[in-house]
Amino acid sequence: MVHCLWGPMGWLFLPVWLFVLTTGCAKDETTDPPVVPPVTLTKTIKGKALFPIGAAVTVAHLKESDFSATLKGNFNQLSAEYEMKMSNIWTSASAYSFSNTDYLVDYAQQNNLKVHGHTLLWYQSFPEWFITAAYDSANFENSVKTYILTVVSKYKGRIVSWDVANEIFADNGSLRVDATVYKSFKDPIGFYGRCFKYARSADPDVKLFYNDYDQVLNGSKRNAVFNMIDRFKKEGYPIDGIGDQFHTTTWTNKTTISSGLTDLARKGLLIHISELDIRVNQDKSSSYVFTAAEMQKQADMYAAVVAAFESLPQSQKFAITTWGVSDKYTWLTGWWHPLEYPLLFDKTYAKKKAYEGFLSGLK
Ligand code: XIL
Repeated sequence: MVHCLWGPMGWLFLPVWLFVLTTGCAKDETTDPPVVPPVTLTKTIKGKALFPIGAAVTVAHLKESDFSATLKGNFNQLSAEYEMKMSNIWTSASAYSFSNTDYLVDYAQQNNLKVHGHTLLWYQSFPEWFITAAYDSANFENSVKTYILTVVSKYKGRIVSWDVANEIFADNGSLRVDATVYKSFKDPIGFYGRCFKYARSADPDVKLFYNDYDQVLNGSKRNAVFNMIDRFKKEGYPIDGIGDQFHTTTWTNKTTISSGLTDLARKGLLIHISELDIRVNQDKSSSYVFTAAEMQKQADMYAAVVAAFESLPQSQKFAITTWGVSDKYTWLTGWWHPLEYPLLFDKTYAKKKAYEGFLSGLK
């Protein structure tokens, strides 16, 4: 349609042609529909973020079509809610059950999601047979070493990162040496350092994380983690990142969150918000109603958490993972109160205000 100035010598008129093109050439076809710019699709969190957006999943949930579609449309990384924990994989001293883990990793690969491994060591997930064995520290470490080498090397190149240890510190920053399984260790931090080394030897490229809750909010715990990192660096134990679980609430102080998160990044390691959910039912009330005002409060908190993460140096932003996808399935209905609505999608998989909040917190 724009041919009024375009002939064999047309290029001579290029400046004029450009002018006409932008201001409107005399049209010879008045019935042309107006030029409409392509529809801008509503942004998704994974589309907008410059770092991976993860969600915790289970095999059963992935088999539900609504869950799977929502995951694939909005997230590009997954963590296993429990199927990669030791008690789920390590069935006896010499037997492993990898069927669920395989399912999760295959699903991720088929659908272009990364996999974050959660978690090699957690005092709550040692299998019964292991606890009963009551190993001395040498046998304890040898068995755990075999476990780490077996699991990490099996998924070498397919799992991008592992939580090597989860929740080794109590709330006051002391070590959880009271946990049944760790009683025989004289130097638990040295043991954990060697576990990081075993994981590294099984996969030189995998990112290795320490994961815990409330390091951002609790200075004592953060300090304990920093001391461990300093020792790791001094003694040559590998560690790439820190995961803060971020099971948080609408009534948590936003300034404490942003200053604590900035401080957590001070060691220069990768930062993973690894299990984000935001509870709303402050009083654990059985008459709690998730009103529009409550939804907005939650959206504001999602925005604040994501914005605090965004203000970290770009190279340290590992990922944000929410601990589930939809309010239909959340561990908080058991651990906190049955009336809980902590995630980004409601029970029918509709996007909540929280989703908009998350989006608005992204740069
Ligand atoms: C929880 C899961 O959500 C539950 O399904 C499971 O029964 C117990 O563990 N911190 C962690 C996670 O690091 O592994 C926990 O996940 C939640 C608290």
